[in-house]
Amino acid sequence: MNIVLIGMMGSGKTTIGGMLAKALNRPFYDCDDLIVSEAGRPIPQIFEEDGEAAFRALESEIIKRFAEPQNAVVATGGGAILNPQNMENLKRGGKIFFINRPLELILSDVETEGRPLLKGGASRLYELYEQRIVLYKQYADVELTNDKYMDDLITEICKFYSI
Ligand code: S3P
Repeated sequence: MNIVLIGMMGSGKTTIGGMLAKALNRPFYDCDDLIVSEAGRPIPQIFEEDGEAAFRALESEIIKRFAEPQNAVVATGGGAILNPQNMENLKRGGKIFFINRPLELILSDVETEGRPLLKGGASRLYELYEQRIVLYKQYADVELTNDKYMDDLITEICKFYSI
């Protein structure tokens, strides 16, 4: 089964996913990176030129690839949970881990440059969290809090698989 990471922007999905893949010797895919390489443009440019709906359509196309188990680690973009079809595909292929990071910690170190939805600053992040938290919890097979050491999260995920 795939190990699929969901959660807000800046929650650590990409970093944790990379570490996990290395520890388990599995391939790692970051959906945002796949979108950027296939569109040939950075995310803010896709949003600006084509709009959010077009970005979401690309995101859903990429996610379809992970509807089958392939023993991969997959980091999704924070908005992947907005489309139920995305989640149906991801659930078919793997287990879903919600990386929940306190918003104050996200705000202290998030890279806002490449994230068009964070142009609205802190209040926008709180607003998105309010809208999305129900979905993250609803789709999660396992919820993990990222507020201390990432190594501990890796250990917890491995424990879940008894590996
Ligand atoms: C988004 C999160 C981003 C990226 C895009 C939209 C969102 O991914 O997909 O900017 O809607 O939360 P990260 O969660 O990797 O930052």
